[in-house]
Amino acid sequence: MPREIITIQAGQCGNSIGSQFWQQLCQEHGISQDGNLEDFATEGGDRKDVFFYQSDDTRYIPRAILLDLEPRVLQGIQNGPYKNIFNPENFFVGSQGSGAANNWAAGYAAGDTVQEEVFDMIDREADGSDSLEGFMLLHSIAGGTGSGLGSYILERMNDRFPKKLIQTYSVFPDSQGGGVVVNPYNSLLAMRRLTQNADSVVVLDNGALSRIAADRLNVQEPSFQQTNQLVSTVMSASTTTLRYPGYMHNDLVGIVAALIPTPRCHFLMTSYTPFTSDNVEQAKTVRKTTVLDVMSRLLQPKNRMVSTTPSKSSCYISILNIIQGEADPTEVHKSLLRIRERRLATFIPWGPASIQVALTKKSPYLPNTHRVSGLMLANHTSVATLFKRIVGQYDKMRKRNAYLEGYKKEAMFAEGLGEFDEARAVVTDLIGEYEEAETESYLDPDRGKEKAEGT
Ligand code: GTP
Repeated sequence: MPREIITIQAGQCGNSIGSQFWQQLCQEHGISQDGNLEDFATEGGDRKDVFFYQSDDTRYIPRAILLDLEPRVLQGIQNGPYKNIFNPENFFVGSQGSGAANNWAAGYAAGDTVQEEVFDMIDREADGSDSLEGFMLLHSIAGGTGSGLGSYILERMNDRFPKKLIQTYSVFPDSQGGGVVVNPYNSLLAMRRLTQNADSVVVLDNGALSRIAADRLNVQEPSFQQTNQLVSTVMSASTTTLRYPGYMHNDLVGIVAALIPTPRCHFLMTSYTPFTSDNVEQAKTVRKTTVLDVMSRLLQPKNRMVSTTPSKSSCYISILNIIQGEADPTEVHKSLLRIRERRLATFIPWGPASIQVALTKKSPYLPNTHRVSGLMLANHTSVATLFKRIVGQYDKMRKRNAYLEGYKKEAMFAEGLGEFDEARAVVTDLIGEYEEAETESYLDPDRGKEKAEGT
């Protein structure tokens, strides 16, 4: 029985990356733009049904719900090459059609108005699954819709589907804020929900994505389409073990359990190598790949899709490498030994210091110009430096009480700005949690008590 996953994409960024993701999955599974299986797609053995269901006329339909408060991006999808693949009932555009104007509070408030329709869609998709495992939310945290409406949905999902996993792919703004002046407000408010209401958050930031695009693809000012190709590559690689199951990490819970030993530290970083013209147009070609080479490159900070500032004490809580292509277990074992000898990765002092590896198939329907490729999913304490940056930028803005009018217009902030203070407290606690995770006594049951007694 498949362990189905329903994808909810919200806002401009969420829908743009979602649209690339579905295109990638269709190509990997030999599904045509109309949802039919291509004549050459005869291999079988894959689990398309985790992400697609079949309609009465046997076409494959993504288990996807596409939400926005303004029509432009969804119209683009409805007029694009994959327009026929989605269930037309799963598009939702807010009736005002004017977006959330980069205001988290407006996006969140819209949640109240649109929730009935949105949850009808989600319930319908959930009812159509045999053994629903969970949800993926795709969104950015800097604007209004993906961030605010996304936050609203995350909160409600916890009440409605308490036993289902929620994983998000969350795009953080670059250090300049991606053109959204109030991004520190929106990001902080969304961070509270990502901390409290998601089981696992794959953090991607536009600064790192642009840097990698510039580096690997040789383009100075990459377009969203180019950075989104990086994102869809990461998303497809991180779901390969679900779609081409081996004997481990076959479901989301297996992946989450491998990476998240303590529930609050659930923010994951990714690296991928090599980017070649197979997945991204314009990528430089790589001549030879070996498992050791791929695994070493995955550990290089410059390949991480998150800009953090690691300190001397920052370390890995866990690593899962998903290696695709021609790799045999002996080669993997040898590579792991070499990496350990060279001390390429520092782990937390309170857990097993090991890199977990999943070997998985590549799509038989796509050309491969390289032997091995790999994705690293990593839980690393330096992710907290990204959160510190958000709190720092928020503090600066809030000190000047800048740009608060738009927020005060919404009921949630009409009485006061306590929601900001609460969100700040949650994020500050989370930063503290990651700092403590770097110490030996992190799992010590008396740790919390000492803190509370002020010793
Ligand atoms: P409103 O426009 O306020 O209704 O909300 P929204 O959720 O639609 O906003 P959007 O998704 O545009 O969020 C703004 C942030 O997302 C900024 O940091 C942008 O740089 C970033 N962003 C927007 N589109 C994309 C995209 O296609 N890819 C990537 N990587 N980032 C994007």
